[in-house]
Amino acid sequence: MGHTAQPCIVPAVPVHLVQHPVTQDAVTYLRDKSTTASRFRRLAHRVSLILAIEATRKLPMTLARVETPLEQARGEVLDANVVVVPVLRAGLGMVDAVLEILPYARVGHIGLQRDEHTAIASQYYSKLPADLSASTALIVDPMLATGGSAVAAITMLENAGVRDIRLLCIVAAPEGIAAVEAAAPKVQIFTPVIDRGLNAQKFILPGLGDFGDRLYGTI
Ligand code: PRP
Ligand code: URA
Repeated sequence: MGHTAQPCIVPAVPVHLVQHPVTQDAVTYLRDKSTTASRFRRLAHRVSLILAIEATRKLPMTLARVETPLEQARGEVLDANVVVVPVLRAGLGMVDAVLEILPYARVGHIGLQRDEHTAIASQYYSKLPADLSASTALIVDPMLATGGSAVAAITMLENAGVRDIRLLCIVAAPEGIAAVEAAAPKVQIFTPVIDRGLNAQKFILPGLGDFGDRLYGTI
């Protein structure tokens, strides 16, 4: 019997598909065009919280001893140097969720804007904390479309000396995953969904539209 090759849908880049029932529920309502901006913000926060938990599963720990009211106990505490890096502006909708579980994390900002016609991202802002060589960077950018913005953000962090970079997004397109894979194969991607692809305007299908506009009501 003949064997028909199936298209490979498993990306080679380390992609963590975070398919928690709560993330799948929230992404469905994020996609819904009738979802209001205030609900959109709450849903984005909820998905980001679960992504942050998944993306920080393997942070360094150190042994610790504490006195309980009854006796001494041994345990572990986080020994991680984390920087959260939102890609402006849509990434701002994910920052608070990460800081909820890592309140001591430092925050760096990268401003990137896609050209409306070419979809090529250009940088308009950057403010990163000093001395990032021992940091784990969590880039938060909800949409991974062409991957141009993600690759630009990753390159900026690599140039700043970061060696452990993880990308948290809410909707990823195969094209964006491939672009990250080609430019930075060690970067781990955390996403609840991988969508079908991009349309002619480089928007994700089925996607959820323009994340920043829906988050801030600028449609
Ligand atoms: C959106 C989104 C990503 C980028 C993804 O930002 O938040 O940063 O597009 O597309 P890409 O993978 O093709 O680069 P946008 O440029 O629309 O800016 P905004 O966040 O200010 O709305
Ligand atoms: N940016 C968005 O906000 N949405 C897309 O579908 C693609 C890029």
